Amino acid sequence: MTTIGFLGSGNIGGALARLAVRAGHDVVLSNSRGPETLHELVAELGPHARAATPAEAATAGDIIVVSIPVRAYRQVPAAPLHGRIVIDTLNYDPARQGRVPEIDAGHTPAPLLLQAHLPGSRVVKAFSTVYFAHLPALARPAGAADRSTLPIAGDDPSARKAVAGLLDSLGYDAYEVGPLAESHRFAPGTPAQHAHLDPAGLLAAPGRPVSAADLAKLLATEVTAHRR
Ligand SMILES: NC(=O)c1ccc[n+]([C@@H]2O[C@H](COP(=O)([O-])OP(=O)(O)OC[C@H]3O[C@@H](n4cnc5c(N)ncnc54)[C@H](OP(=O)(O)O)[C@@H]3O)[C@@H](O)[C@H]2O)c1
Repeated sequence: MTTIGFLGSGNIGGALARLAVRAGHDVVLSNSRGPETLHELVAELGPHARAATPAEAATAGDIIVVSIPVRAYRQVPAAPLHGRIVIDTLNYDPARQGRVPEIDAGHTPAPLLLQAHLPGSRVVKAFSTVYFAHLPALARPAGAADRSTLPIAGDDPSARKAVAGLLDSLGYDAYEVGPLAESHRFAPGTPAQHAHLDPAGLLAAPGRPVSAADLAKLLATEVTAHRR
């Protein structure tokens, strides 16, 4: 079993932590306000969960999930994450999360921001295309006919493999899109980003399973106008 460190334990971090504990992993949670504010979530998750500072969560995990608002990316501690596998769930959504000048100015493409901040880490983009409430609803055992596939992208093949293994344990197949730069194919505004929404796009709906074949088609119909 794996220990997963979380920098950010809100909607997506919390949903992933619940799935991880359900799958038998240990989780170390952190947020910006301090471990004591995570008491409720830790109590809900039981003995396989504990709360820590972001630096502690970064060193405790075999795999670290960063799920914070993009504007806070500079606060992610680089030194403890050196050499580690880091899952980047971030989507740049300035209207909801605030602006990041280096993205707006075109200095760093949004999908590469965290890797640029953590040059010594092996960053894999994953879970950025699934609404947090759909994560538990769509998880299925391996081999289930309606198991969903999620896209992942990262420069280090061994890190991609480790993240694909984690996805498998959580109830999802992984579709390796390629290096991190290729993650623009499932960035906000692309068809693949909204794969699990029903045709009306209702977030409240239970979520639509997406097979590898469905996802491949969506990834091929990227809307280039949204590349950034
Ligand atoms: N919501 C979704 O369905 C979804 C799906 C896919 C991807 N994403 C992406 O995932 C990211 C997180 O989204 P979310 O909806 O989970 O956000 P959220 O519910 O607002 O949670 C953000 C979490 O980040 C923590 N945080 C903020 N600054 C931090 C820092 N410097 N160090 C450590 N933790 C920090 C917050 O802690 P405090 O509360 O203590 O500040 C909170 O636990 C965003 O980039 C979003 O675009 C979201």
